[in-house]
Amino acid sequence: MTFLSNLLSKKNPDEFIEQSEKSGLNKTLTGFDLIVLGISAIVGSGIFVMIGSAVVGTAEHVGAGPALIISIILAGIICIFPAFCYAEFASMIPVSGSAYVYAYATMGEFMAWIIGWVLMLEYAIGAIAVSSSWTGYFVQFLQGFPFLPECIKNPPVWLINNYTAIAGTPVADSVPHILGIPVCFNIPAIAAILIISAVLLKGMTESTNFAKIMVLVKIAVIALFVIVGAFYVKPENWTPFIPNGIKGIELGIFTIFYAYVGFDAISTAAEETKNPQRDLPIGLIGSLLVCSIIYILVTVVLTGMIPGSQIDITAPIAHAMRYVGQGWFAGAISIGALAGLTSVLIVLVFGTTRILYAMARDGFFPKIMSSVHPKYKTPCVMTVISAILMIAGSLFINMQVAAELCVLGTFSSFMIVCIGIIILRYTEPDRKRTFKVPFCPWFPAAGALLCAYVMYRAMPDIKTAAAIFPVWLLSGIAIYFSYGYFNQRKIEKNENYKVVYTDNQPCFTENKK
Ligand code: ALA
Repeated sequence: MTFLSNLLSKKNPDEFIEQSEKSGLNKTLTGFDLIVLGISAIVGSGIFVMIGSAVVGTAEHVGAGPALIISIILAGIICIFPAFCYAEFASMIPVSGSAYVYAYATMGEFMAWIIGWVLMLEYAIGAIAVSSSWTGYFVQFLQGFPFLPECIKNPPVWLINNYTAIAGTPVADSVPHILGIPVCFNIPAIAAILIISAVLLKGMTESTNFAKIMVLVKIAVIALFVIVGAFYVKPENWTPFIPNGIKGIELGIFTIFYAYVGFDAISTAAEETKNPQRDLPIGLIGSLLVCSIIYILVTVVLTGMIPGSQIDITAPIAHAMRYVGQGWFAGAISIGALAGLTSVLIVLVFGTTRILYAMARDGFFPKIMSSVHPKYKTPCVMTVISAILMIAGSLFINMQVAAELCVLGTFSSFMIVCIGIIILRYTEPDRKRTFKVPFCPWFPAAGALLCAYVMYRAMPDIKTAAAIFPVWLLSGIAIYFSYGYFNQRKIEKNENYKVVYTDNQPCFTENKK
């Protein structure tokens, strides 16, 4: 085989299905569970935190102003394209691993690795972004208890931030230094990642029950905000409606897209779904629809309640309530936000472990990393490794940049999924699909182009994230050529051997013939 054909070597979708059937993961999730999983993955820091900078702008770029209503509708429409493509893929190849698996089946080994690597931006770096905003709301929540000691209500800055988040600000000087190195940990964020990883290690049933409670709490708080806030809407706050022109709307789409990130995580649960062919499309499209309606309502009410220039970018919804004299509501908002952020974290950590597990199972990482826990049937080694990596990342990356990297990763994977659908319609026209994207190839092609366009337009205005993105891609390529590529060839050399599962552990030992 030549170098190029190695890079393009594809896996037959049946191989993934066969692997997944033998993997031993529990199949407990229903269509309703998936919609809950979707809402729990989607509604979080995007609508509770990032909506502020999407309206007002950041140090690097302008905001959309009240025209964020248009951005949020357009972002929701853009999501429909990849959501349909995910639904078709997931109904065809119902296994863990999401876009990584779909790329492997359509574009070959190299693209699969790259997409798996890029998905880590969406899931692992996304989890870091959410855990950072979790800390903010957690501290706000603690401040609601007057009897708590002052050191708990107002913890030292070096225990609730990483250094990148405060570098250059006056508080940076108050951080203790050891051998000239600033000692700064975001303890609540680290604790959240650790606790959630431990819950996920025990299994999905417990975590989906927990996610259902979290979803109820956050939806209740958002509904209350919309109902109470609607009484304070003043149409004059919507003027000027488009303060920063088309550019503002485009950047609004990019920034608020973060709020939609996560619906594709539903497809990572395919292997743990009872009837994936029917339930996955229901979960993907159902949850996207519900979240779009919620976001449109929140944006209309928020931008109508308060002039754009007055919106607080750290806690926009709680602040809007205080602005209209409903301060009592701020405490309830922090409970809803914490519930929302916790449920998003659960799904993002879950997705990280399942994608890495699928990659390890395919030989991109050492075999030990694809071990499944004998009792809990969860990918235990990858769960521990991803927790360690996310905690390490949380020490360096600040929230805004992490969120932007997360969106770049998401757009890239959406583009690949849209293109993959077109390829598979030609290469596997007869494969059973219980859900089909309409107007193929035009519909998925439009999805890929729209994602590329929004990314292209935002890149010059998100300088830090745009500089890290290619470095991330290059480091992924370096890792692939240091291990994955050669391990794949080793596996191929033993072509007579196939993956068998002994005690739910994959090993490459059984002779095919
Ligand atoms: N959509 C997720 C959130 O808003 C990432 O937190």
